[in-house]
Amino acid sequence: MTDNPGQGHPAQATSRREAIKLVSATALGGACAVALPLAASAQLFTAHNRLAIPPLIDSRRANNDIQLAMAEHQHAFFPNKWSRTGGFGRSFLGPAIRLYRGDDTRLRFENQLREATSVHGHGLHVPGWLDGGPQSRIEPGETWDISLPIRQQASTNWYHPHLHGSTSRQVHSGLAGLYLIEDENSMSLPLPKDYGLDDIPLIVQDRDFEAGIMVPYQASRREMKNGKREDTVIVNGTVNPFVTVPKGWVRLRLLNGSNARFYEFHLVGGERFYKIATEGGFLDEPVAVTSLRMVPGERNEIMVNLSDGKTRQLLARMVPLDDDWLDELFPRTARVLQIRVDEAKRGQGRLPARLNTIERLQREDARVVRTFRLQMEHRGRGGHGMHAMFAINDKAMDPVRIDERVRKGDVEIWRIKRDEMDHPFHVHGTSFQILSQRGRSPRPADTGWKDTVEVDWGWTELIMKFEHEANDQFPFMYHCHILEHEDGGMMGQFTVT
Ligand code: C2O
Ligand code: CU
Ligand code: CU
Repeated sequence: MTDNPGQGHPAQATSRREAIKLVSATALGGACAVALPLAASAQLFTAHNRLAIPPLIDSRRANNDIQLAMAEHQHAFFPNKWSRTGGFGRSFLGPAIRLYRGDDTRLRFENQLREATSVHGHGLHVPGWLDGGPQSRIEPGETWDISLPIRQQASTNWYHPHLHGSTSRQVHSGLAGLYLIEDENSMSLPLPKDYGLDDIPLIVQDRDFEAGIMVPYQASRREMKNGKREDTVIVNGTVNPFVTVPKGWVRLRLLNGSNARFYEFHLVGGERFYKIATEGGFLDEPVAVTSLRMVPGERNEIMVNLSDGKTRQLLARMVPLDDDWLDELFPRTARVLQIRVDEAKRGQGRLPARLNTIERLQREDARVVRTFRLQMEHRGRGGHGMHAMFAINDKAMDPVRIDERVRKGDVEIWRIKRDEMDHPFHVHGTSFQILSQRGRSPRPADTGWKDTVEVDWGWTELIMKFEHEANDQFPFMYHCHILEHEDGGMMGQFTVT
């Protein structure tokens, strides 16, 4: 099964390393410094391709019975250039599955891969045995048959493999897709809601291409440490995409689906847009922002006003790592999406003043405080032999060890600190609110329900309530969502009983 090849030209997708080799050579030859940043952002000048929109499966139209096959495929990111990929029922990524609060939806994932896998519902509030973590292993040829009780508020979530040690490679191959949960609130708000027309999913990832072929996953020791970060931004699997939308408001559902890269999204000229939702649902009200930082695993919904009919460019600054001198020297901005307006069409959606009423968890209600230290270059006890490079609280992930035991119904505060570099910290089975970061309470844009958060140099304090059970056999995970770190052991397990 294949998708339509885009119209881009592989020759123009010069990899950044090639570009840098080129400019370094020129620099050594005595060329002026001005040439450097230009060449390094060569990606800005490649041809446009129409944004692929993952097909929508509406669970109600599918009688709440959905079947998806996970398989290896060939996918053309560039015309007639076939890359080896993976997908859920298609050649790269999977369909967006629309779920409704109150429904029980049957999902059957058939593993047609030549290796074991699992399918985690990232952001879903379901019991441990439905969570699809490393314990819910699906052997080749087997089908994982579950019925998901959808009881949480409207939100943009996603599914991806979560088998310990294979997650980074399997997600990288293209195995990921969206769960779009709707509820009465989301259906009655006057927001744009025509999927793929004015309500647009954007799965942002980065990949390396060589002569138009996606470079298959492999991670050096350095890439394990820093996380695998590649040179070309792809959106829903499209290189350098454009989308045409009706005049008016457009709603973008952003997922940072990269293995390791952090992005700062913004519009050309620093134009304002509105953040309306975080991972766990809508904010109380829209928050005007000019940039949006997103770490791997995070989702945000934003609204952009296109009533003037002008084309916009959504860009992303690629957040540099401290120890990457290339990134620090030539900070890069990639074009994520060109948004064109079809003057003949008028969008129906608009930006409401109020979106949600978020129940605030109170510090005083917390019965337990737990502390987590995210550690690099860990040399102590490890479950995974040579992979025991990363740890949390001096322990590398061990699938047979339960690290924390939580009482069902409890409100807890989790305090997280990291050494060396920033990490996206993710918790399964619930959503949390940020209590403080670096000693400060969150800004309005960060007050929503979340399940993934950037932990930087200060303490990050989260508050959450556990309402779904997870036993010793199928515990929940907490981990760094840099997939190389997760696979390398920066993960722990907890039960809720
Ligand atoms: Cu998106 Cu534990 O994962
Ligand atoms: Cu998750
Ligand atoms: Cu990490």
